[in-house]
Amino acid sequence: MRLNILVVPGDGIGPEVTREAVRVLDHVARKWGHELETSEALLGGVAIHQAGTAFPDETRELALAADATLLGAVGLPEFDNMPPGQRPEKGLLGLRKTLDVFANLRPVVAFESLLDSSPLKNEIVRGTDMLIVRELTGGLYFGTPRGIEGQDGERVAVNSMVYRESEVKRVARMAFGLAQKRRKKLTSVDKANVLENSQMWRQIVSDMAPEFPDVQLDHVLVDNCAMQLILSPSRFDVVLTENLFGDILSDEGAVLAGSIGMLPSASIGDQLPNGVWRGLYEPVHGSAPDIAGQNKANPLAAIGSAAAMLSYSFGLQQEARAIETAMQTVLRDGPVTADLKPKGAAGTTEDVGKAVCAAIG
Ligand code: IPM
Ligand code: MG
Repeated sequence: MRLNILVVPGDGIGPEVTREAVRVLDHVARKWGHELETSEALLGGVAIHQAGTAFPDETRELALAADATLLGAVGLPEFDNMPPGQRPEKGLLGLRKTLDVFANLRPVVAFESLLDSSPLKNEIVRGTDMLIVRELTGGLYFGTPRGIEGQDGERVAVNSMVYRESEVKRVARMAFGLAQKRRKKLTSVDKANVLENSQMWRQIVSDMAPEFPDVQLDHVLVDNCAMQLILSPSRFDVVLTENLFGDILSDEGAVLAGSIGMLPSASIGDQLPNGVWRGLYEPVHGSAPDIAGQNKANPLAAIGSAAAMLSYSFGLQQEARAIETAMQTVLRDGPVTADLKPKGAAGTTEDVGKAVCAAIG
């Protein structure tokens, strides 16, 4: 199969973790006889520095032409005080919107060998295996009106949480479908006790439930969900939520998985005419500028995102499973990076990538 992939390394640790993900993809392509074609594009802070904008037109065109995009991370400290429209993150939001990848799938799994990496008690974390489905192209991130204005001698800041019914339906349909392939439990998370937006969300999801009679649906308020995630994470299977709630809850998921360096993500949009599902694959972690360029970032979230790409965009389940199994072998036998608190010496980013390739065989 031909794998036409755009690699967008981005900022901070992005380049070094994507390098290892591409190493693993290359290894898998050779082993299974696929034709891997990669191109590279700029996004985020590095794009502002080199091309004057966080989301250059060339990146947009390359992303639209690719079957799938593998992203590292965006964000640089020198832009910390800039308005949202001029920050590196704007590039990422533009890319997500351009590709219309409305469903962001963030699996949170507590691997047995990593239980001690979590600050929570082993008996709480054990058995955690959930999939957060975060709506990715709507809500507060994109709603208008937005901005900061002067009114009556003071500043007033506005952001709008806007969802159209069709936007809720398409992501809910995806979440129900994913629940059917898992443990058949769907938890929809909202703030329906306060927000009209959430009331509509809850209504739509409830109305769809009869179409998926085998899925057990429940609704949880987002504040309560934040607490339940820490108290009894294993009760969750698929968690469906809007953009900002999903952003926040998935970082909490990192505590369950032992390290934010462990969380991959897949953002899925429409099916292309050639049958491929267009997707954007990125680690949940940020650009971690404090450790960038030191070869010590954990590449497993990026490698896991590459596995998700093979599975969701190309339907290559066997290859994806081979990567995931190899990752588990490496987690058990090492080398792993310092964030996972290894008993012996920590491995480098590159050591981990090479070890995953070796474990694939
Ligand atoms: C994430 C990140 C991004 C987001 C940032 C970098 C814009 O936090 O993917 O979770 O908020 O979506
Ligand atoms: Mg986030």
